[in-house]
This record gives sequence, structure tokens and C-alpha cells, in this order.
Amino acid sequence: MIKSLKGKFFVTFLLSAFIIGASLIIPDYKELTTSEIDLQVAKVLAILGDKSASHYPKSGDFAVSASRGESLIKEGIAIKPGGGKTKLQSKHFVCTSCHNLEREDPDLASNDPQARLDYTSQKGLPFLQGTTLYGAVNREQFYNDDYYKKYGDLVLPARNDLREAIQLCAVECAQGRKLKDWELESVLAYLWTIDLKLSDLNLDDSQLEAVYAALDGEGDQAAVIGLIKSKYMTKSPATFGTAYDSMIKKDEYKGNPDNGQKIYENSCLYCHENRRYSFYHLDNERLTFKHLKRKANGYGSHSIYQVTRYGVYSKSGKRSYMPQYPLEKMSDQQLADLRSYIELKAE
Ligand code: HEC
Ligand code: HEC
Repeated sequence: MIKSLKGKFFVTFLLSAFIIGASLIIPDYKELTTSEIDLQVAKVLAILGDKSASHYPKSGDFAVSASRGESLIKEGIAIKPGGGKTKLQSKHFVCTSCHNLEREDPDLASNDPQARLDYTSQKGLPFLQGTTLYGAVNREQFYNDDYYKKYGDLVLPARNDLREAIQLCAVECAQGRKLKDWELESVLAYLWTIDLKLSDLNLDDSQLEAVYAALDGEGDQAAVIGLIKSKYMTKSPATFGTAYDSMIKKDEYKGNPDNGQKIYENSCLYCHENRRYSFYHLDNERLTFKHLKRKANGYGSHSIYQVTRYGVYSKSGKRSYMPQYPLEKMSDQQLADLRSYIELKAE
């Protein structure tokens, strides 16, 4: 059982320091036990003495607001502080074309694309190439591993700096303009409303007890910091596959068309149905599947292996492109599943 810590010093402290700039309804904590108060992971770590970067927004500027940040992220546009609208951030995309804003993994400590596909399908969320922005402020590194191959030295300033990561994405991923200072700080303020909470970490009762004890100054604080950080990934890994590997693996892995359907509907159609975020149109017609099936046997520009593993570069005159799926975002098994679904629907 988790002991109730009603009225204790730190609860009051945590709540008074609860959130920055965001509109949060603070519950009447006297009515709650600590297990019901969903503490921010970042705050808990800070109290325990963890020195990780905080990426807090500079809220000094009066224009900075989480709700402006939210509308920039979801619509690419916001109402300016003095009235009137900002310029559209990108003509092609919004941040949510490629990133969820919700939790997308059942276990935040492991990267399992199949567990993510099941989880997001169940929640009615898309299955996308970018990592969810839920918990982005809790990460310590960005554009990891093989993204260096794609963006080269551009990723270096973004590796340890969330502001730089957002700007890099605004320009390189979203193919749009850089954010102004107050816009960037507003985006950060919004991201702080979707940071990790203790309840996201799948801590069992005895682990939660250890966290509460450490917050009260008891026990081994460094060990508890380690425990908390073992429950989520402080960086999102990225390994690029090759079209060749994925294609030959299809004979090794038996495709599951039901799983393939989830990928087609929650990923491909999310962007391509009625050209939502693309020029190329995909739908549920047999002809479309026949086309994809035929192309899947080669390495042409419409091969599912080619487009998923390398992405699609923008054509001249259009600055839109398709981001690739690293193996962590779509496994070779999942590609075999997608292929079997395409084959089934092409019959
Ligand atoms: C066309 C797709 C696309 C769009 C649009 C896009 N992103 Fe990204 N973004 C990506 C990909 C792919 C990555 C690579 C790293 C990852 O997310 O795993 C990335 C990385 C990031 C990262 C670093 C994540 C990490 O853990 O490494 C942040 C933060 C981010 N984007 C924010 C934004 C914001 C804010 C916007 C809107 C202004 C945006 N992105 C628009 C595709 C996109
Ligand atoms: C984040 C949005 C997004 C997702 C998800 C996505 N695509 Fe794309 N795709 C694009 C964009 C943008 C292009 C660039 C060309 C365009 O605008 O049509 C493109 C290009 C393509 C092309 C080449 C079209 C051409 O004219 O050269 C194919 C084929 C394709 N995608 C198939 C897929 C398949 C199959 C999936 C699912 C596994 C998928 N896409 C998922 C956005 C996306």
C-alpha cells in the first residue's frame, strides 16, 4: 500500500511549483493521497538533485503561452500577441503530420514498434515516423544515431538542445520557416503540458514507495534517480535499414495481413488519403493495391521498400518529402505484414 502523505511539506511544495505557464487546474490536494497526485517526472528528478537539462521555457516575454504553442504545433499558425495571425509555419505540414502528441508506447522503457502499433491502434492514434512529442521535454538527446547520416552536422547543435531540435525540425522536417523566439518558447511551454508524469512510468507499488521516501529525504536518492530514468528512454533511438534487407526478409517472415492493415490505415493513409499531406493519393481501391503490389517487386520510386527505408525526396518545385521509417519505427516484420495486406487486397 502506498502511504498517504497528506499535508506533508513536499506535496505543497510540488504543487506550488507544479507547472510553468500552462493552464493547469490544481486539485485540492488535501483531498488526495500522493498516489492520486500525478507528479511531474522532471520535478521529482529536480528535487532529488538530478542535474539534467531542463528545457524550461523563458516565460518572461509576455507573448509566450502554452496555448499559442499548441496552436502552432497543431495548425502551424497562432494569434499574435497584438492580434492578427502569424505567418504559416509550413505550407506542407503541421508538426502533427509526423508526431503524435500523446503517449504511444505501453512501456516507455523499451522501443518496440509492434507494441507501439498495437497501442496506438487501440487508442485511435496514427503510427508515424517521428517520435511522439509527449515526453519530449524529458529527453536528453535528439536526432540520434543514424539521423546524423541524413542531416550531417546540422544535427550536432540539436543533439543536446531541444530548442535547436525544434528549429531543425521546423526547417528540415516540416520544410517551413524558423520559429520566432516567442513562438519557440510557446512551443516549449506547450510541450511542458505533455511531459511525463509518474503514472506513465509503470512503477510498481514498492518502487513508488521508494520514490516518495526519497522525496521525503529518506533512502538512496541517486538510486531512485536511476530507477526513474530506467523507466523511460532519455533518447529515441534510430537505425536506418535498407530496402534490400527489408525486401529479402519478406521470405523469411510470414506476413500478417491484419497487422499490415493497421499500418496501411494508420500510417500510409494518414498522410496520403485524399492527399492530406502529400500530392500522391492512396486509397482502398483494388487498383491502388495492384499498383503497390507490382511496384513492391522492385526498387523504383513507388516501391514500399524504397519509400519506407529511404523516404522520398522532394521533387523540384514541391518542397514536400516523405520521411523514412527507421527500424525502430517500422520493423522488417511489419513491412512483410504491410506487403501481405497489399497482396491480399490486390487479389
Ligand atoms: C515531415 C515530418 C515532420 C514534421 C512536419 C515535423 N517533424 Fe519533428 N521530426 C521528424 C522526424 C522524422 C524526426 C527524427 C527524430 C525522431 O522524432 O525520432 C523529428 C524530430 C523532432 C524532434 C526531436 C525528437 C527526438 O526525440 O529526437 C523534435 C523536438 C521535433 N521533431 C519537433 C517538431 C516540431 C515542433 C514540429 C513542427 C514545427 C515538427 N517536429 C515537425 C519529422 C517531422
Ligand atoms: C508523414 C506523412 C507520410 C506518411 C506517414 C507516408 N507518406 Fe508516403 N509520402 C509522403 C509525402 C509528403 C511524399 C512526397 C511526394 C508527395 O507529396 O506526394 C510521399 C511519397 C510517397 C510515394 C512516392 C510518390 C511519388 O509520386 O513519387 C509513395 C509510393 C508513398 N509515399 C507511399 C507511402 C506508403 C506505402 C506509406 C506507408 C508505409 C507512406 N507513404 C507513408 C508523406 C507520407
